[in-house]
Amino acid sequence: MARLKVAVLISGRGSNLAALIDACATPEFPAEIALVLSNRADAAGLAHATRAAIPTCVIAHRDFASRAAFDAALDGALARAGIELVCLAGFMRLLGDAFVTRWRDRLVNIHPSLLPAFPGLDTHARALAAGVRVAGCTVHFVRPTMDEGPIIVQAAVPVLPDDDTDRLAARVLAVEHRAYPLALRLIAEGRVRVEDERVAIAGAAAGATALLNPSGIAASRASLTAAEPQLFVTDITASCDFFTGKLGFGVAFRYGDPPFYAQVHRDGARLNLRHVDTPVVDHARARQEDLLSAAIPVDDVARLFQEFQAAGVPFHQPLRTEPWGARTFIVADPDGNLLLFAGAA
Ligand code: GAR
Repeated sequence: MARLKVAVLISGRGSNLAALIDACATPEFPAEIALVLSNRADAAGLAHATRAAIPTCVIAHRDFASRAAFDAALDGALARAGIELVCLAGFMRLLGDAFVTRWRDRLVNIHPSLLPAFPGLDTHARALAAGVRVAGCTVHFVRPTMDEGPIIVQAAVPVLPDDDTDRLAARVLAVEHRAYPLALRLIAEGRVRVEDERVAIAGAAAGATALLNPSGIAASRASLTAAEPQLFVTDITASCDFFTGKLGFGVAFRYGDPPFYAQVHRDGARLNLRHVDTPVVDHARARQEDLLSAAIPVDDVARLFQEFQAAGVPFHQPLRTEPWGARTFIVADPDGNLLLFAGAA
């Protein structure tokens, strides 16, 4: 497969360039960096390109009498290298309308904010001054107005109480290094289309694909996303049959022949089934003391109870209203595991 030929334009440090070089070094990555161009001979980022044996070119804006002449020189260098897509990565020169129009939808930029908030300079200081709770970066197609254009990928990070501009910038930069390679991959795979100045991404779960980190926003600590009770059962097949045949669950997976581990699920509820040769639950005691193996919240508990009744499910406790207002019922599975279903009254 032909790889998309990309030029990266830089003015300084080049850490985003380095991230793109790393991504392109993977054999199956659909793009290659064919040219690194800087408007400053002293841009530290040029060293990344040299190390990776990527051709570099310095076109110093000071050498040109007008922006148009500078842009034309850039354009010439890009054309000579057969460039198909231009990535601005910390390129601190405004490009003229003619250049931007000529490269329309083939020219992308990364900016360290969740655009359209905080375009331009001093992004992080302005974000902190505004007291935003969430910051991030945006990869977007370039339009004549600075830091404006259809958004391809965004990545979000939390703003923490003791942040200063350096700390926030570092947190955002870390996600820039993931967002830019992701955007480049999506473009090079031909999945990105601009429709009415909005980007549409083809393929499964495309919306989620183009948004990094949403679950990390709220938390400055790890968050638990679910809990999966483990039931001890003497016959995985019989147990799966009970959950699918009587309780309307599906089998997510089943391991082993004969099976020793399985998972059944219905909507958001997942139960792991672990084979044991002899029962580990003291059934008499479990029944006597209502020792539950799992508690499963339900949005319409009365309706579920009716459904289970119709299916001939054995109940340890029928539907009842608890002193604290919830309505519950308890099902016993073939191994005597007690499953509580609970919902609002
Ligand atoms: C990056 O944070 C990039 O988002 C920003 O310049 C930095 C360059 O860093 N770009 C802009 O502010 C564009 N308006 P790098 O040279 O290490 O990639």
